[in-house]
Amino acid sequence: MTSVAQQQTSATHQFPQGFLWGAATAAYQIEGAVTAGGRTPSIWDTFSHTPGRIAGGDHGDVADDHYHRFREDVALMAELGLTSYRFSISWPRITPQVTAQELGPVSADGLAFYSGLVDALLAAGIAPSITLYHWDLPQALEDGGGWTSRATAERFGEYAAVVAAALGDRVPQFITLNEPWCSAYLGYASGVHAPGRTEDAAALAAVHHLNLAHGLGVAAIRRAAPAAKVAVTLNLAWVCPETGSDLDAEAARRVDGLQNRVFLDPMLSGRYPDDVQADTAGVTDWAFVRPGDLEVISAPIDALGVNYYSPTVVRHWTREHPKETADGHGDGAATPWIACDDVEFPRQHGPKTAMGWSIDARGMTGLLTRMAREHPGLDLMVTENGAAFPGDEVVDGRVADPDRVDYLRSHLAAVHAAIEAGAPVVGYYVWSLLDNFEWAWGYEKRFGVVHVDYSTLVRTPKDSAWFYAGVARDNAVPVAPVARSEP
Ligand code: FCB
Repeated sequence: MTSVAQQQTSATHQFPQGFLWGAATAAYQIEGAVTAGGRTPSIWDTFSHTPGRIAGGDHGDVADDHYHRFREDVALMAELGLTSYRFSISWPRITPQVTAQELGPVSADGLAFYSGLVDALLAAGIAPSITLYHWDLPQALEDGGGWTSRATAERFGEYAAVVAAALGDRVPQFITLNEPWCSAYLGYASGVHAPGRTEDAAALAAVHHLNLAHGLGVAAIRRAAPAAKVAVTLNLAWVCPETGSDLDAEAARRVDGLQNRVFLDPMLSGRYPDDVQADTAGVTDWAFVRPGDLEVISAPIDALGVNYYSPTVVRHWTREHPKETADGHGDGAATPWIACDDVEFPRQHGPKTAMGWSIDARGMTGLLTRMAREHPGLDLMVTENGAAFPGDEVVDGRVADPDRVDYLRSHLAAVHAAIEAGAPVVGYYVWSLLDNFEWAWGYEKRFGVVHVDYSTLVRTPKDSAWFYAGVARDNAVPVAPVARSEP
């Protein structure tokens, strides 16, 4: 008789040799220790301590206390057999006195923390992948205009040079920015993320200055760490028009322009999309784009990081009913969708995560194959994918999270399908290693494959962590549903 374990190994999607199996986190979401080593506040410290901004009044003061427990977390990753770890650097730990005018002194303590983490990872056989900016802008830079100001991009280039010079001898891969879409539109248009501003023109200026920061960062990393690979991580939308109508196609074009092409085109082709500039002409004249900027922004990169969670269904809004706004990006009074008055995001039927995000793994295959087709020659990585579900509880030392296991299996199969179709996908990073501070949602939404008890900070791998460990070990994803593997 064939056992479940045998079935698991006999029917699998095998991944290419050397495929990276990783987990991802971000500094503010896990580190805590917000004043250690002279760290100064970031916009997320300010925002999370502003009443009404975060569910439950949560903040990142302690978070997972990863700053003090990183060795334990690295040991956990080693136990799970992960081969890469994507983490971000807290900019205000590195240059705590930065202002719009100057970078200020470099903090030896700040660099020492990340240097220790890198060494611990390398000793455990785990390749570090550093994200330089995962949303925690030093507050002093926001006070000087934040991403609406060109100076922020210039200071970012200098900060990137500092980090690359200090760690580039040991770090094989740097990612300049995480999801500039969120930084620009959620931070400056809808205001559900820090710094909480609601000005459409400011958001488009932020788009450009984030793109410029990316380009300046690429140049700085190339100079300081010539052996390292350089990438950027985008939360690309798999945009699905609800019907085949011309009006729904027009809605899809607008959303694709604002979420995908306004980053992809300057970074990979050295131009801004004409249609996006035309759509937004009533909001800004784009005069913040200066001669030479697009050459800087389009400096070649080695890989594109794609974050995918959920599809984006759009349709033309007829104005005959209240607008539906199920875009998954919070219900701020203001919208992140600039110049999209005629677009709505219809509520979806079918399975959803605790975030209310529809589950549809086809988007993973769709995005990766599109990127492979439109940007040949660029390695692709899934730098985030995962899900929050209700009900993660530790019972007798175990956390049964069957929904997360199913989500991961179906999305990993979708990555495999993209590879079969020719997409050069070189790695996958589950979001997230640990339950953590989920931005405006606070600690209520748990994305970790490892459970964190926020009163004791005890870590307990969930069933999904052991499932993922099996995937990493076998370099393969089981095809058919199987019994959850035990620790
Ligand atoms: C992404 C963010 C990450 C996390 C996941 C759920 O947009 O990059 O920090 O919040 O969503």
